[in-house]
Amino acid sequence: MCYKVYVKGQKFWDQTASDYAGGRTKGRKYILDPALFEIIGNVEGKKVLDIACGDGAITVFLAKKGAICTGIDYSSKLIDIGKNKAKELGLSINFKVMDARNMEAIRNEVLDLIVISLLLPHLSSKADIESVIKQCALLLHKGGRLIISEPHPAFDFYMRNKLRIGDFEYFRSGLPYDFTMNIDGKKLSSIAYHWTLQDYYSAIVNNNFQIDKIIEPRPLDISKGLDRKWYKDRSSYPSYIIFDCIKK
Ligand SMILES: C[S@@+](CC[C@H](N)C(=O)[O-])C[C@H]1O[C@@H](n2cnc3c(N)ncnc32)[C@H](O)[C@@H]1O
Repeated sequence: MCYKVYVKGQKFWDQTASDYAGGRTKGRKYILDPALFEIIGNVEGKKVLDIACGDGAITVFLAKKGAICTGIDYSSKLIDIGKNKAKELGLSINFKVMDARNMEAIRNEVLDLIVISLLLPHLSSKADIESVIKQCALLLHKGGRLIISEPHPAFDFYMRNKLRIGDFEYFRSGLPYDFTMNIDGKKLSSIAYHWTLQDYYSAIVNNNFQIDKIIEPRPLDISKGLDRKWYKDRSSYPSYIIFDCIKK
């Protein structure tokens, strides 16, 4: 029998950091990343912050395109992976261990673009989501962009298939669910939280941003030949949602 081990918060990410060696998941590679990079567009010479950057995959991509990048994450193990990647590639990226709920240490930055990818369901309260977005508004210049990409709250695979307690209830903000990763044959779980589209919308517009675009990306055609079932499933509902927001 395979028991799940629950690990909370930053320790979970430190203990699962080795999983990143396997590269991007199919969802990231064939759905989220291409759409995210397309909407981000040209970043040459732009000052960019990647919040909850994980192993720095997005940060490194943007630095390769000429952005002046800072990547923050509260997992020191993941930040180390990012630092090593940047070193190997000869990229100068400012990777820092930092909790997104308190970015006081970089308060003096004036940024062009902030990216938040797959962070918000790992925050356990609406107040934390509001606080992260409020700080983004302080860090960006007027007209600067905040791009948030998250699992689609109405359709996400985890919510539908991996709920820990009871049934999925879309309107229950903060509904906890299992977030499980397989590490060396063991299941390691953390708790993530379901937030509604209205929660995201309110946190964005109440904190000095307007939403310019919403994108529900589809899988790339090339992924059809790789795994037909996966492609068919992921083509029938939106796995992710991207908010392109402008600082007012
Ligand atoms: C699903 S991963 C996403 C990583 C990366 N953004 C990407 O899209 O590949 C979630 C990340 O959020 C980070 N994280 C969760 N809560 C955080 C917090 N309060 N402050 C900073 N990082 C946090 C984790 O350490 C992990 O790297």
